[in-house]
Amino acid sequence: MTSPVLIAPSILSADFSRLSNEIRSVEKAGADWIHVDVMDGHFVPNLTIGPVVLSWIRKVTSLFLDVHLMITDPEKYIPSFAESGADNLTFHREAARDPKTLIRQIKNLRKKAGISIRPKTPVASIVPYLDQLDVVLVMTVEPGFGGQKFMPEMLDKIRILDQKIRKDKLKCKIEVDGGIHSGTAPLTVREGARVLVAGNSIFGQKDRSAALKSIRKSIDKIREIS
Ligand code: DX5
Ligand code: ZN
Repeated sequence: MTSPVLIAPSILSADFSRLSNEIRSVEKAGADWIHVDVMDGHFVPNLTIGPVVLSWIRKVTSLFLDVHLMITDPEKYIPSFAESGADNLTFHREAARDPKTLIRQIKNLRKKAGISIRPKTPVASIVPYLDQLDVVLVMTVEPGFGGQKFMPEMLDKIRILDQKIRKDKLKCKIEVDGGIHSGTAPLTVREGARVLVAGNSIFGQKDRSAALKSIRKSIDKIREIS
């Protein structure tokens, strides 16, 4: 049996002045998760959402909140994001001195845990932690901004991770983030991606149902063939 592919719209590309309507629109369109990009102006050159905003998001949706921490010193903020309603907390490998301790911190807060890697960070740097993770997030653009172009060179990373996860029968899901649309989504799913983050290709379209449908259709097509 093939495992399902989840779609996680990234609210970074939403209209923040009407955030609850924006979230509701993708919820109605069949989104599986909501992806929340947290940026600190230090780990990445952009500033976005903090725990206060997350706690308001928590009040308007019951969807799984996938929180992507693009911040330095993630250990300082993990408790507040957990308290504010995150379901999954993904930190960056490059920002973690001791990933094991961070994973334990997240698990002790009874949240799912993920690690992300920037395009230049090798897969080998996260392999030792795969058995403790719920999610491994492969960045397919340089983190910091929405609407960038997908980097096909990242497909090899997905393939290597998928082989390792299958070989060791791990439960960790491979997630991709950056430049995902109906053209690139199937390429990542073919290599083993099972959570697709999409910002611009969903919130950039007026018709959110059509946007989600077009991504799903592109995946179904390749899954029929394989
Ligand atoms: C980028 C963020 C992404 C971003 C993706 O640093 O992590 O989640 O919102 O946006 P798109 O899908 O437009 O590339
Ligand atoms: Zn993200």
